Amino acid sequence: MKRLLLVAASIALAASVAPVHAQQADGRLLALSCLNCHGPGGKSPGEIPSIAGKSEDWLKTTLVDFRDGKRTGAASTVMTRLAKGYTDAEIDALAKYIATLK
Ligand code: HEC
Repeated sequence: MKRLLLVAASIALAASVAPVHAQQADGRLLALSCLNCHGPGGKSPGEIPSIAGKSEDWLKTTLVDFRDGKRTGAASTVMTRLAKGYTDAEIDALAKYIATLK
């Protein structure tokens, strides 16, 4: 029974995640994981920088720089690793959506 539940849960999860990759990248969905750290609406209450109010171009450049290891030093640990998981199209979609957060 437990195994059956696990299988059912995995299928449900796969079904809910798959459309994001199958269709065009959805910036709003992709950004949900970002906002766990960067605060609701991109406004961080703590030490992690806020990403609301940034321009689409700046966001795109910054994310690509993180991904390609061009942003080094203190401000490059978490994001350098994270950004590697995103394609150009996904970074475009993320930048476009996050730029709408004021
Ligand atoms: C695990 C927490 C975490 C997650 C998840 C996360 N970030 Fe970050 N982000 C950070 C931290 C911490 C920094 C500060 C630089 C560093 O240490 O890498 C940062 C820095 C940034 C910066 C540079 C901000 C500045 O003012 O210099 C941008 C842009 C950014 N993140 C965007 C994103 C996007 C887009 C996502 C989702 C794809 C994301 N982050 C997910 C923790 C996170």
